[in-house]
Amino acid sequence: MKILGIETSCDETGIAIYDTEQGLLADALYSQVKLHAKYGGVVPELASRDHIRKISPLIKSVTQQANLGLSDLDGIAYTSGPGLIGALMVGASLGRSLAWGLNIPALAVHHMEGHLLAPMLEDNPPKFPFIALLVSGGHTLLVSVKAIGSYKILGESLDDAAGEAFDKTAKMLGLAYPGGPILAALAQKGDPDVYHFPRPMINRPGLDFSFSGLKTYALTTWQKSTQTDTDRANIARAFQDAIVDTLFLKCRRALKQTGHQRLVIAGGVGANSALREKLQQLNAEIFFPRLAFCTDNGAMIAYAGAMRLYAGQQEEAVIQTRPRWSLEDLVVPSCQKERG
Ligand code: KG4
Ligand code: ZN
Repeated sequence: MKILGIETSCDETGIAIYDTEQGLLADALYSQVKLHAKYGGVVPELASRDHIRKISPLIKSVTQQANLGLSDLDGIAYTSGPGLIGALMVGASLGRSLAWGLNIPALAVHHMEGHLLAPMLEDNPPKFPFIALLVSGGHTLLVSVKAIGSYKILGESLDDAAGEAFDKTAKMLGLAYPGGPILAALAQKGDPDVYHFPRPMINRPGLDFSFSGLKTYALTTWQKSTQTDTDRANIARAFQDAIVDTLFLKCRRALKQTGHQRLVIAGGVGANSALREKLQQLNAEIFFPRLAFCTDNGAMIAYAGAMRLYAGQQEEAVIQTRPRWSLEDLVVPSCQKERG
């Protein structure tokens, strides 16, 4: 089965074709970073309009890359949520309508399920069950994963997501947009012994996170410093160390509490090299997607949709967008239910 995946939940137009027999056939991404940079963050209306401009040329480009025509497709998977409503509407309306025109099924995919399954696109995919640490711009989740669609949230951020904390702290330090990767690069130049930031909520039981205090801590430290480039790098380092350590400790706790032996890390912050290195110290098998599939992409949506269509999931012919949507509300495809 050849499935076209469409991702337009935020500021990246991602399109891909996944074949259940041959794997990923084509993948293309257009990032709107330059468009939003001068505003210091994503402007939702501009994002929607740019998705409209880029989506059709990208679909054309992936079908050409895969040497396929639209009539070779067996289904279309589009990101239905969570995300920016206008941006989601672009992918959902085009995806659903195209499927209607081609008389093939369309599936509404959960963006975080896409992230969670992204490591399945690699050569050594994780086997179920596993724990997933999902760290993106909008979410920080620890999830117990039994099978596709069978997700139990073990912990989540009570305020800012990890990526959001990176972005806001970067902005406060006067770094360019998008802040996360820029702050991470600067942190590599920082001295780890100058500042020590707290590790939020590690002394409380449970697996929830809270990152908004760290942002304030970084601001106060910056204001009290002499505000040189060296101070900026040292603060970036202390901030990143605090986030990485906190995520590490909570993953270790989640593995211990559940007895799981596999950990999947996905979402934009999963591209952070300090985090990738630190998590290798865990006593578990660790799985990451390649860097390009940590951040938003069409391949993960094509894959999630392909797995669900292959399992026989069907949906009504309606355009579905859900700006808020819990992973725990997803359906388990029926053939997996039978397997238990
Ligand atoms: O998964 P993603 O592309 O989009 C959402 O679903 O939100 O994640 C984007 C987030 C942004 O907050 C970005 O700053 C962060 O991931 N990010 C990073 C790195 N690369 C992306 N944060 C820390 N270090 C990185 N290397
Ligand atoms: Zn994402």
